[in-house]
This record gives sequence, structure tokens and C-alpha cells, in this order.
Amino acid sequence: MSVVQQSFATYKENNTIEDGDLVVVYLARENMSIIRIKDGEYFNCKFGSYKHSDMIGLEYGTKLGSNTGRGFLYLLYPTPELWTQVLPHRTQILYIADISFVMNFLNLKPGMSMIESGTGSGSFSHSIARTIAPTGHLYTFEYHQERVNAAKKEFEEHGLSHMVTLQCRDVCKDGFNMENKVDAVFLDLPAPWEAVASAKKAFKQDKIGKICTFSPCIEQISRTVTALSDNGFVDIQMYECLIRFNEIRVIPMWTIEEAMEKQRAIEKKRKRALPRVLREPAAAADEQEEEEAKKIKIESADDSNVSSAIGTPSSTTGSEMDEGVQVKSETATPSVPSTPILSSETASPSTSSDPRERIDPKNVMVTRLPVEQRGHTSYLLFATFTPATQPPNLTQQNAAKKA
Ligand SMILES: C[S@@+](CC[C@H](N)C(=O)[O-])C[C@H]1O[C@@H](n2cnc3c(N)ncnc32)[C@H](O)[C@@H]1O
Repeated sequence: MSVVQQSFATYKENNTIEDGDLVVVYLARENMSIIRIKDGEYFNCKFGSYKHSDMIGLEYGTKLGSNTGRGFLYLLYPTPELWTQVLPHRTQILYIADISFVMNFLNLKPGMSMIESGTGSGSFSHSIARTIAPTGHLYTFEYHQERVNAAKKEFEEHGLSHMVTLQCRDVCKDGFNMENKVDAVFLDLPAPWEAVASAKKAFKQDKIGKICTFSPCIEQISRTVTALSDNGFVDIQMYECLIRFNEIRVIPMWTIEEAMEKQRAIEKKRKRALPRVLREPAAAADEQEEEEAKKIKIESADDSNVSSAIGTPSSTTGSEMDEGVQVKSETATPSVPSTPILSSETASPSTSSDPRERIDPKNVMVTRLPVEQRGHTSYLLFATFTPATQPPNLTQQNAAKKA
């Protein structure tokens, strides 16, 4: 067993995995789990079976291949950020965008004392503890007994219990029962306005402090603003923190000439595929050709959202990204990727008459927003606690000295 208890608030000096340690096993960004290393046990995943004993003695961060040769995983040190991604959800939790924003706006630093309620799944508690360590203290309140028990166990197992005091208490009804003690307060409660007056008493009365409440509905914000204002808090501000992911992709960027060549080839192929009766007499064939060409243009424009785009369902590979051909032009929207038929090394666009023949467009790197965006989580309301009696300013101090 590890001699020194692992802590989420610091890294281990030797950075080595020992029997009894927690390890975050990373297979992919969306596929991580946390395990406790125990000699004789196995970690099983789609890549095969990994012996815990093979992990003991390795450095955190090691990339470990499976004995089946089918894949690999990373063995990571458990940090608050990773814990937020792997923890068992007992409630809604705070994620890293809100966590980092709130910690910054509360000016959290090592050595600070802070109140948090409710504890919930302890997602935010872990980040707070790491930030105010080693000398700070977190007072966290939760009125649901089972959640209290689970969080208490986790704080102990994660080497945080010496700096976290967890109480089972309804803070809206019974308050925090703390006076002149903390630098910051964070409330993730359904009715935070009911805890504002008690939070005010808990602030160190001779220092400026910060409070933040986290509420999904604007009505909750409205009531909390009133409570904050009534209790003398100043500098009341509200924010919403939204994460916007961008995918980076490489797409082929066709020249106008290549695109026109491809269009001609597609039209030719379409014409060949028409029933004979429609191709003759010549006039009918011309008419049909015109119709087809129009149809292709409309389909392509709809698909690709690119003014000069071409391409039909029959010319694509079936990938979800196959949406016609990107053309280098003023009006092209490079953020819409396309995957036309993959190119071969040698074929030249100008000699090809078959749309399935391969041509070599240049590649270009673009970003685009994925279809699904994570939307609103909650509003963040911040306010400042100011001491009732301000410390004397320089003029007052000088006047006092002279007197
Ligand atoms: C959304 S969760 C908090 C999640 C937490 N911020 C996290 O990141 O894991 C809200 C918690 O507040 C607790 N709660 C609600 N009202 C409370 C009250 N009056 N006193 C104490 N806890 C309360 C709930 O039981 C719940 O666990």
C-alpha cells in the first residue's frame, strides 16, 4: 500500500502509481473511469484486460498498450478537473467552464476560507479545495443525509478531509451558524435568497468578500438580487458562461475549374443513364438535359450551402459529411465540410469524364460548430460584501497621526 496518502489537492512527489492509489484511466475524451489499484485485480475494457500489478511502479501519464494489441490507454493522476468528468452523479453538478469562471470571480486563493452549499456530488468542492490548499478551509453544507455520507467518504478517500468540513444542515431554514469566518460564499441551491442574510454574517467583517449564486432561472436571480441588495451587498452582476466547441477538420478545396469539370462529368453520366426515349429526338434530350442540370444545381446548393457547389447523392461516399464539393470562391462557406470522392495520386480533372474518377483537390483546414451545442446551464450572480466600517484611507490615517 502507498505510504503517503494521495491527495486531489497536490501531486505526488515521486509521480509513481502505487498499490492503493487512485488512477484515472483515459481511453478517450468521453471515455474515462477511475480505479483504485489493487494487486491481483484487473481493469477490463474494449481493448482487453489490464493487470493492476502491471500499472504499479509506472509513472502517472504512462501510455499503456493492451496485450491484445487492440488499443491503448493513459494512466492519469486524479485531479479535480478529471474527477468532475468521472464522478458518480448524485445531483446536477458544476462543470469546468462554470467552475473556473466562478473561482476566478470569487478571487479564490490559497489560504482562503469559503462556504459552499449544497455540496451535491462534490464536483465544485474538489476544485475549491485544491485552490485554497494547503492552508485554506472549505465549509460545505448539504441537507440530504445520503449525499452527506457519500461526499464525506470521498473527501476522506481523496485526501481532502483535513481541509473540508461537511455539515448536514438546511441552510435556508437554519442558516450557516458561522460568524466572521469566511472570504467567499457559493450557493448552488433552489432558493439562495433565503440563505443570503446568514451568509452575510459568515463573512470576515473587516474584509471585502465575494458571493456567487448559481441558478438556472431568471426568477431565482431576480429574488436573489433583491435579497443581496437588501442585505447591503454591492457590485451585483450576472453572467452566463456558455461553452462553444469547434471541430477542426481537413476538407478538400476544389478550384473553379476542377468543380466545373466534375459538374460536366456528372451531367454527362446522368444523361447516359436516362431512358432512350427521353434522349431522342435531340430536342427532347436537350430539354431533359437542361432539367437534369437544373436539378443537380438545386440539390447541390441545398446540400452544401455553397453558392458554386456541385455534387449529387450518387457522387458522394455515403459519409455523413458528404455534402457536395467545396469551391474556392468568394461566397463559399468553408465552415461546411465536404468529402467528395477520395482522390488518387495521378488522375487529372481535365481528362476525367467519369464522376467516380478521382481528382486531387487541395486540402484546407477549417473549423465548424458541431450540430449540437451545450446550451444554458445556469446564471451566475456575483456580489461583493463590504465591511460596515471601512478601514481608514490614507488621508484619515495621516489626520489621525497628527492628532
Ligand atoms: C445542484 S446540487 C449542487 C451540486 C454541486 N454544486 C456540485 O458541483 O456537485 C444542489 C444541492 O443542494 C442541496 N440543497 C438544496 N437545498 C438545500 C438547503 N436548503 N440546505 C442545504 N442543502 C440544500 C441539494 O440536496 C443538492 O444536493
